[in-house]
Amino acid sequence: MSGETSSTAGIPNTGDMPRHVAIIMDGNGRWARRRRLPRIAGHRRGAEAVRATVRACGERGIEYLTLFAFSSENWRRPAEEVALLMKLFKSALENEVEKLHANGVRLKVVGDIQRFGPKIGELIAGGEALTAHNRQLTLTIAANYGGRWDILQAVNRMLADGACAPVDEAALAPYLAMSYAPEPDLFIRTGGEQRISNFLLWQLAYAELYFTETLWPDFDGAALDQAIASYRKRERRFGRTSEQLEQSQRPEVA
Ligand code: FPP
Repeated sequence: MSGETSSTAGIPNTGDMPRHVAIIMDGNGRWARRRRLPRIAGHRRGAEAVRATVRACGERGIEYLTLFAFSSENWRRPAEEVALLMKLFKSALENEVEKLHANGVRLKVVGDIQRFGPKIGELIAGGEALTAHNRQLTLTIAANYGGRWDILQAVNRMLADGACAPVDEAALAPYLAMSYAPEPDLFIRTGGEQRISNFLLWQLAYAELYFTETLWPDFDGAALDQAIASYRKRERRFGRTSEQLEQSQRPEVA
């Protein structure tokens, strides 16, 4: 297993700033409805909030930002809304990737992207290739993603590689869609609901969960700072006792 995925194996030195923030961006529809605008206007403002949040994470030295843009279940929405979301995703890929690259952002897309068709597939592959060596911030867009899908695709690929029972976590980890990233430290969901909604099920095992009423189009650097302030107050024990943590954090005395 790469050291990157081992947050549950040792007591990580989390410091003050989360290394990896994962967000469910909820509330675009309600933001629009409150203004008597069509839902897609909320998604357009949601795309603005994505830009602001990527910038804010870069400024704060956060290394990984993962955004749930479109879940496996979102295909159940009206066809017109799905088509408009696809259009928004495609134009973001066409227009934003150069800017991401100029700012040292590595782009990754996780999920079953085949269903988006060849054009979006090409744009994703091109954007990932262009930005592959950037390390300022890794921006992962989860698109047609589901946590159960991820675990199943990992198991199936592992079996296809000839894995024999019993397997352990370390054997499965490299096959998970986000094997290149440490597990999220901080999970944020906007829009008031308090659910994981089939997001990163495996990887969120020890994440600190933060829920806010703020609707996604209103999310910005200040809202991110509030989430980080809450995160900093938490004691992350990873199954251990407070006393064990105190001992592990005490400086070595010669
Ligand atoms: C949830 O709000 C939001 C989505 C399903 C889509 C998220 C998409 C964007 C923010 C657009 C741009 C994304 C990228 C990566 C360019 P909702 O529609 O469920 O809101 P509601 O719960 O108020 O109805």
